[in-house]
Amino acid sequence: MTETLTILGIESSCDDTAAAILRQPAGAEADILASVVHGQTDLHAPYGGVVPEIAARAHAEKVDICIQQALEASGVTLKDLDAIAVTAGPGLIGGVISGVMCAKGLSASLGIPLIGVNHLAGHALTPRLTDQVAFPYLMLLVSGGHCQFLIAHGPEKFSRLGGTIDDAPGEAFDKTARLLGLPQPGGPSVQAEAEKGDAKRFRFPRPLLDRPGCDMSFSGLKTALLRQRDAIIAEKGGLTVQDRADLCAGFQAAVVDVLAEKTRRALETYLAEPPSEPLLAVAGGVAANTAIRARLETVCADLGVTFTAPPLALCTDNAAMIAYAGLERFRAGEQDDMSLVARPRWPLDQSAPALLGSGKKGAKA
Ligand code: KG4
Ligand code: ZN
Repeated sequence: MTETLTILGIESSCDDTAAAILRQPAGAEADILASVVHGQTDLHAPYGGVVPEIAARAHAEKVDICIQQALEASGVTLKDLDAIAVTAGPGLIGGVISGVMCAKGLSASLGIPLIGVNHLAGHALTPRLTDQVAFPYLMLLVSGGHCQFLIAHGPEKFSRLGGTIDDAPGEAFDKTARLLGLPQPGGPSVQAEAEKGDAKRFRFPRPLLDRPGCDMSFSGLKTALLRQRDAIIAEKGGLTVQDRADLCAGFQAAVVDVLAEKTRRALETYLAEPPSEPLLAVAGGVAANTAIRARLETVCADLGVTFTAPPLALCTDNAAMIAYAGLERFRAGEQDDMSLVARPRWPLDQSAPALLGSGKKGAKA
């Protein structure tokens, strides 16, 4: 395909409704003309987690508005679009259906191609949108809904080296914050407390480090935290500011150690067939954590691997990544038709064994 393409991307798989417009001249970088995200945090806050029915309804109400805003912000009209890319899974099924139905309607009425995108491929291809990274690269997706290592060999070819078997790290941060009465989302508030605490005062486990491979587990950390918290309360009648900071520091140090060691192992596997430009990219909200980022940079430096992280707005759920993944599929000559279905579960690497965990996105891919 030699021409310039203008594509609309739609994302609605969890608790963010998003639309974006990208334009890419053939053989050149893609330009993000607009990227609109409507989060649903306030709607779910009273329930302490994402409520699928509330999410689905909000997506159905917001998706048109998001698209309208993206068109207005980019100065693009529906007639200028060459294709529509939409998240077709994995995710909360009601939300995914809202996006897919909207994309089908637009595709049919405008007579332009429809491209179904795997949400995880959207995250995993983002370093190519932001930094024009060459295949193969190693990707660590680490957020409130995902945690997995993927080698990206091509736009639709990924090998999964391992992932969490229970909670995603972001969920563990969020639950830790809840247990300690800190504000949500838990990641930033636990990080801020951890910076004032002593990581050595409480001993937290390093789950699955004693087992080979890259699988991870984070649910035991919140149980450990709960026990330590209750022990302090039983002894002293409550938590001091310092107790809370020390608990956060101990918890965060455990997450950092696990991610660093599992990343080192994933890099060893990735480097076994030496890539010409070895690179680790991280994406997902937890990639914002400065302690995690610093340790991953050290691990990469030790192994001579470049480290990169897309800007945070493109690390967390957004539609620019869906539009970009759609562009890659479309330029490779692929598209879908009206038989495109919304899929709650859709592993990127069909050959890897299923991960058992279920995070705020439901079944892990
Ligand atoms: O990618 P993301 O925006 O959303 C989904 O997972 O869908 O990630 C959100 C997660 C939340 O669990 C939040 O607590 C976590 O990322 N997070 C952090 C930090 N900032 C956000 N976790 C640890 N440290 C941070 N600084
Ligand atoms: Zn995501």
